Amino acid sequence: MKKTRTLRSQAWFGGESRDAIYHRSWMKNQGLPDDTFDGRPIIGICNTWSELTPCNAHFRAIADKVKIGIYQAGGIPVEFPVSSPGESSLRPTAMLFRNLVSIDVEEAIRGNPIDGVVLLVGCDKSTPALMMGAASCDLPAIVVSGGPMLNGKYGDQDVGSGTALWKYAEAIKAGEMSSNEFLEAEAGMSRSAGSCNTMGTASTMASMVEALGMSLPQNAAIPAVDSRRYVLAQMSGRKIVDLVNDDVRPSHIMTKDAFENAIRTNAAVGGSTNAVLHLLALAGRVGVDLTLDDWDRVGRDVPTIVNLQPSGQYLMEEFYYAGGLPVVLKTLGDNNLLHKDAMTVNGNTIWQNNKDVVNHNPKVILPVDKPLVKSGGIAVLRGNLALKGAVIKPSAATPALMVHTGRAVVFESIEHYKERIEDPDLDVDENCILVLKNCGPCGYPGMAEVGNMGLPPKILKRGITDMIRISDARMSGTAYGTVILHTAPEAAIGGNLALVEDGDIIALNVPERTLHLEVSDEELARRRERWSAPLPLIVGGYQKLYRDTVLQADKGVDLDFLVGCRGHDVPRESH
Ligand code: FES
Repeated sequence: MKKTRTLRSQAWFGGESRDAIYHRSWMKNQGLPDDTFDGRPIIGICNTWSELTPCNAHFRAIADKVKIGIYQAGGIPVEFPVSSPGESSLRPTAMLFRNLVSIDVEEAIRGNPIDGVVLLVGCDKSTPALMMGAASCDLPAIVVSGGPMLNGKYGDQDVGSGTALWKYAEAIKAGEMSSNEFLEAEAGMSRSAGSCNTMGTASTMASMVEALGMSLPQNAAIPAVDSRRYVLAQMSGRKIVDLVNDDVRPSHIMTKDAFENAIRTNAAVGGSTNAVLHLLALAGRVGVDLTLDDWDRVGRDVPTIVNLQPSGQYLMEEFYYAGGLPVVLKTLGDNNLLHKDAMTVNGNTIWQNNKDVVNHNPKVILPVDKPLVKSGGIAVLRGNLALKGAVIKPSAATPALMVHTGRAVVFESIEHYKERIEDPDLDVDENCILVLKNCGPCGYPGMAEVGNMGLPPKILKRGITDMIRISDARMSGTAYGTVILHTAPEAAIGGNLALVEDGDIIALNVPERTLHLEVSDEELARRRERWSAPLPLIVGGYQKLYRDTVLQADKGVDLDFLVGCRGHDVPRESH
């Protein structure tokens, strides 16, 4: 057995002290032989398995394969559960709990006798939550994603998770689809284990993991039920033992270069706007100085070459069969858009891992001279309506609306929106700009994915499918439209978004990166005098801690006291 350093777990299990006997004795009730504790790396498997997180419901089987790999490499696996934030059911929004889960993960890793950790992630928030917690401990770590679902099916059509839902919901409103047809589509939408099969937030974050170098190659796209997903899990189990023996930690892998690679990858895959928040928060944990403006600067000229829904046509299965993320990374490298020397967890640079791969389907992964979108990066907008920034994903937006001036139709909350949007007398036309307030980090709380609010039915019925929408909310990674998100400061803490009134004129210019409310400073000051913060629905518990400490979108919506790496040292308890 290779061993090059003193293992952390030996502080619990090594020697003849009363404490060591105590720690070993209790662990032995699981049938562990004496040599379990003779200095082999003890590897935690941090599992977000839950039947309430259907995207992660196959994780026990994945954990079993990781364990085999750990044993094969001479380590001892110990699987442990952490809270599982399921996107599809958790209310008010899983994002409210990303930071809470990260606390659970951080303290579980630090407090337990483990030398390294395998992070099993899948559904949207589980990936950033576990990576943030692990980054704050900086113990050797490797990520294994659960993989996307197989393509959904409705009749003989492929159905993308979420993306089809938005489309069908609007078709029902417009009277183009019956309830029975909708039910049939629903039944075929999620027909295997795994996470959303579009380039939504889960697939985006799995791609970010791979681009950051925190997983083995191909982690992003192998379908959940493909046997090769289980091979990857097993190989990751072997690899974490090497990482422990060589003391390779997340901070050695997740450098500024690695984050810049991830930002460019996000543009190339047409990834979710949620990645902006998650990477900013993750960088904060690992001590990398990443800013919102880095997203615009680094991603600006990167073409979107992955032709996947919601921006394009195909789904994650086709992406994997075409060659997966390695082809994207090779393409970025070939076009001088990759920091090739960034290290990855398998001990190779990102370029060594990907330089020789082949694109098996240029319809799915397009050539750079025929991209889906020429400039696919996230655009960061600023102006008096977004003093600390707002974002838009041009690859999911309508090109004709990129420069537009329109009259605001304002909704004070998501409830107000629901009350008003169906009203046939609502004074709105397709040139208007829909403005939704109080759905930001504090306002909702947790920053709901409601930024892509549906259009008024009377507009949809005329065959119009997109309008400019502005909010302090987020948008599902599976959604699309000319949607301005993450406006900061948010309305609930008195950002200028709170002061917009029906009939105000708003000017958007994406090429110039501006978002301007055409109301004088004097008038804004008068409105501010009359403004008061909305009352929170829940006043205690975790939600109070969250509201009191949450950072704005430009800082990744982490809690202020969680920013930074606190290491993995822990005071020794004596029994
Ligand atoms: Fe879990 Fe989309 S709902 S990945």
